[in-house]
Formats: sequence, structure tokens, C-alpha cells
Amino acid sequence: MATSVDGGISAAGAQGPHVRISGLTKRFEAFQALGGIDLDIARGELMTLLGPSGCGKTTLLRTVAGFLRHDGGSISVGGRVIDDLAPHKRNFGMVFQSYAIFPHLSVKDNVAYGLKARGVGGKELTSRVMEALASVKLEALAERFPDAMSGGQKQRVGLARAMVIKPELLLMDEPLSNLDAKLRIEMRQEIRLMQKQLGITTLYVTHDQEEAMAISDRVAVMDRGTLQQVAAPEAIYDNPVNAFVTDFIGGCNWFDGQIIALGAGLGLALAGEAPVPLAATSRLTPGQMVRLAMRTEDFTLVGGPDCAISGTVLIRSYLGQRTRLRLRHAAGSEFDVDLPSAPGLPGEGDVAHLGFLPGRTRLFAADDGRRLV
Ligand SMILES: Nc1ncnc2c1ncn2[C@@H]1O[C@H](COP(=O)(O)OP(=O)(O)OP(=O)(O)O)[C@@H](O)[C@H]1O
Ligand SMILES: [Mg+2]
Repeated sequence: MATSVDGGISAAGAQGPHVRISGLTKRFEAFQALGGIDLDIARGELMTLLGPSGCGKTTLLRTVAGFLRHDGGSISVGGRVIDDLAPHKRNFGMVFQSYAIFPHLSVKDNVAYGLKARGVGGKELTSRVMEALASVKLEALAERFPDAMSGGQKQRVGLARAMVIKPELLLMDEPLSNLDAKLRIEMRQEIRLMQKQLGITTLYVTHDQEEAMAISDRVAVMDRGTLQQVAAPEAIYDNPVNAFVTDFIGGCNWFDGQIIALGAGLGLALAGEAPVPLAATSRLTPGQMVRLAMRTEDFTLVGGPDCAISGTVLIRSYLGQRTRLRLRHAAGSEFDVDLPSAPGLPGEGDVAHLGFLPGRTRLFAADDGRRLV
């Protein structure tokens, strides 16, 4: 699929991962920005780097692009190490948050730029430019100048310009963050469709977890220069490996608790609540301090005796199919619960008795946040 131009990267090594990042480290003076990144990206895959501001996403992307030189480890593409290959020889397409399109060139000339630099001219140039513009629905604006275009249109130009060279790898750094919410959702679907149709291996950066889940084949969650978990969106959401990933993906309620002996087995004691029985596992021992993570959708209304946790309803918000309750727990903390909208839900001032949906109680060690159950 990928075309090699300019003495760039060959299609060799089609068997292994398309991109292999191994043991990559990067320092800015005393500050360790990347702390040993190992990441494989399959051919045609859309991999997203997701993490909070300052975690090293842009640094990793710029290192892959060749704009920054790493201190340790290596990057290979198609089986070939590219550590010493100049950025312009990598044949990578790039799309940035700040459009980075040429203001003095028309849309068509912006898109043609990379092809001309590669010696493409004549009919082939025109047909490839028009094809790229069609793919981002901008044929009608081919003669326009960037000044006279909206943010969404400019970003489409950026996308067409990156795609037209048939890049070996497409790198995108928060390409949608300057757009309004509605356009962001539209554009992310377009990017996804185009990326799949063309089969372009893509490394995409965002700090928006919903965008990451919507667009990616796999998501690499980063924190402080390290990868915390790399997996498909469903796996990241349903089976996060630690407290950081759990909290970053989807958000959730946290409760402090302790493991206790309960009958012949184990129980979870939350402040002010009757203990909840737990399936025995070697990872839990009586006396252990834990943190319980409960997503808002993982509760159910129950009668008093089956209650795992209760709270006084502070706010009840109708949100269509579901209703959100903001509750105050007996121990003082507040938490949110989403229940299917139905008549008879507890109202403001009522005490709601809640159970935990089976299999949805995630327990983490109180000290280091590692996943226990
Ligand atoms: N040229 C530089 N010199 C010194 N420190 C830098 C440099 N570039 C980045 N950093 C630091 O490295 C860390 C990672 O920065 P990076 O831009 O990769 O974060 P990011 O995950 O892309 O964040 P954001 O979501 O805000 O874009 C930050 O703490 C940043 O201040
Ligand atoms: Mg960044």
C-alpha cells in the first residue's frame, strides 16, 4: 500500500509490525520526557497516544517524525531503522493542531506542494491533487486562499496535503482541537473513514479520551513519559490495568476501603456501609487498604438489605435515556450514578440504595494504584 519515494523507506519487512518503537528515551536537560517507550504499530493501524497535558505525546510524535533526536532506543519502519534518516526522507504525512498550511498559496497549490517537491508534475499532479481534494470534499474550493476558509476547511486542506503524498506513516497531533465540538465529531469520522479506505498507518495524538476511543484501532495511554497500557478501546475501558488508566478513561467514582475476612471468604468494607462479599483471590488479603473504582453506569437500584452503598440524592438530572444522580455518601464524599430513566427513581433529598453490577467492581492497591481485581 505505502509508496516509497525519494530513497525513503522501502516496503521490506511486511511481516513484522509496520512501525516499531523500542526503548525510546528523551531528555530535555534534567527532565526525562520519554522514559523508555516500547510500541509496535501494525500496517494500516490507527494508534492513538492519549494522555494528560505534558505527558510526552508531542515529544514522542516529533521524535518519530525526526524533528527531535532521541537519546536512547530506536525507531524502525518497515523493518528498517530510521534513527539517522532525515525527516524529509521519511515520507511521513503530518497534520497539526495549528493547520500549518501556506497562507500565500491556494488550496490546490497547498495540496500540490508536497508532490511538486517530489518531482510529480503535469497531469498526474492535477489528478492526484483533485483526488485528494475530493476525498476531503474540497474540490469546489480548489482556487480559494486559506484566509477565506473556516477552521474545519483549513484542517481538511491540511489532511489532503498530508494524504496526497501517500505517506508511509501519517502523524497527527491534536488535529481537531481548534474546531468546535460538532465539527470535531464530524471530522474525526471523516479521518477514520479516509484512513481505513487508504490503509495508511497512523499515529494520532489527543488528550480527549472520547475522541481516542472513537477513532482508534488501539489506544496507548501515557503518563509522565511512560506507556501505561496499549490496547483496543473496549479493553482499555473495560479492563484498565491501573488506577491512572481507569481514571483517565471515562472517569469514575473512587471509594476508599479495606479488605476484611467475611464468613469463610473475603469482604470489602467501605466506611459507613455493611461489607460486600468478594470472590477470594490470592491478590487480596485481610487488612489490605484498597481503592474501589466504580463507573457511573455500574450501579443498580436495590432494596435496603442488598445495598452495597447508599447516598442522599443532591441533584437528579434527566439526560434522556439515563438519569444522573449526584449523591452524598454517608462517609461524606460525593459520587455520580447513571441509571436508566424510569418512573420512580429517587428524587432530591431521598436516600438511594445501590448495588454494584456484577463484575464491575474494580479494586486497586491504595499505595501504588496497581489493579488487584
Ligand atoms: N524543547 C523542550 N525543552 C524543554 N522541555 C520540553 C521541550 N519540549 C517539551 N518539553 C517538556 O516535555 C514534557 C512533554 O511535553 P509534550 O509537548 O510532549 O507534552 P504533550 O503530552 O504533547 O502535552 P499537551 O497535551 O499539552 O500537548 C512537558 O513537560 C514539556 O514541558
Ligand atoms: Mg502536545
